[in-house]
Amino acid sequence: MVYRQPLNRLKKFFQKLGFWRSIGFFTALFLSIILITKIAIAQQPVTLNLLMTAPDADPWRQGMIADFERKNPRIRINIIEGPNATNLIEDLYTSAFILGDSPYDLVNMDVIWTSKFAAAGWLLDLSDRITPQELAVFSPKDVEGGSYQGKLYRIPLRSDAGMLYYRKDLLDQAKLKPPETFEQLMNISKYLQRNDKAKWGYIWQGRQYEGLVAMFLEVLEGYGGFWVNPETLEVGLDRPETLKAIAFLKDTIKQGISPPGVTTYQEEETRRLFQSGQAVFLRSWPYVWPLANQKTSQINGKIGIKPMVHAPGQSSAACLGGWGLGIAKSTKHPKEAWQAIKYFSSREAQRQFILKAGYVPSRRELFTDPEIVAKYPHFPQLLEVVDRAVLRPPIAQYAQASDILQRYLSGALTGRMSPENAMQSAAEETRRLLKAGQGKKAA
Ligand code: GLC
Repeated sequence: MVYRQPLNRLKKFFQKLGFWRSIGFFTALFLSIILITKIAIAQQPVTLNLLMTAPDADPWRQGMIADFERKNPRIRINIIEGPNATNLIEDLYTSAFILGDSPYDLVNMDVIWTSKFAAAGWLLDLSDRITPQELAVFSPKDVEGGSYQGKLYRIPLRSDAGMLYYRKDLLDQAKLKPPETFEQLMNISKYLQRNDKAKWGYIWQGRQYEGLVAMFLEVLEGYGGFWVNPETLEVGLDRPETLKAIAFLKDTIKQGISPPGVTTYQEEETRRLFQSGQAVFLRSWPYVWPLANQKTSQINGKIGIKPMVHAPGQSSAACLGGWGLGIAKSTKHPKEAWQAIKYFSSREAQRQFILKAGYVPSRRELFTDPEIVAKYPHFPQLLEVVDRAVLRPPIAQYAQASDILQRYLSGALTGRMSPENAMQSAAEETRRLLKAGQGKKAA
């Protein structure tokens, strides 16, 4: 038969070769296969997986990733789009790390996750990869938000701070100055609403999620209150200032200044309403500015920003937000992940990120960069807001503490509980949580 012939030839070949030479031949063949496979694997591009909120993904794809991949042809970045709320993204990262075998190499981290992720041992310590001089170019608070117990786990990519947007055109027409106090904000709102200048006065994030806590802290501090003192772990939720802050928010709904649905809004619902021209004031983050000023926006060129309002005798508070990159301890590609972080946090990449998406830089010099200021004249003013912004308590149990506040605050705002009962329970639960945490640390 025809196919017997090659087999016979092979047999003859090995008979001629002899036993020892055959062994040598197979060993050489085996080693060459291993070598070729190794070379082939080494030439395969490495893919780094990165999970982020859906609204964040778009700006990342506007050039920054393509540029990085062009400069690093052996590394691919795979963005996985998650839900919009930061706490839902955090849950996805958390369950992946707890289950082990996480698919994520880079961790796109909200400033409030560092302590928890670092304490759980899910991140690589980056302290030795960057010099103090290199770190000094970033806003100190952003660096602080990426550190835990003296070690660095997150390199800041973009900063964030809560602020007040207002309809400059409407205020100018009515010859009114932007408000400084909660009361002035309510009075201006009612006045312009009465005169049919806007349907709503003030829009804020009232849904039960992390954004509610960020917004509430600004009101709470504006009344002189506090949530958790990170130094002493004292809890301030059952103090009178907290009830005043809740009363203000409830009043905005009761008096028709805020729509009843505001207690179901996240950032994007509030932005859309404001951008459609239906409201005088909005509390939000800087990402709103370029969107509200795009050509198709109803309020293009008609808005101003300022620090949040406060009670008389108190001062404005801005919640520090922001995002940065860490490296998952479980990644098989720490070298490539660091190469990506170095590029994404570089001056060049940040400039592009900002010019295209209007995000707030973590590199201080960019706030006054002439090209950036020409496009975003509000940036130098923004730096003042960012500099004064306060971190949410950087404690390892942050996610649970925030969850307690979210639940009870939402209960109080939607009328399911009285504010007094809600805040008493929130304070007690938070104290129990922090005490249990201290016990663990001591053990
Ligand atoms: C923004 C902030 C982030 C905050 C979140 C709340 O993304 O940058 O720090 O936790 O909003 O919704």
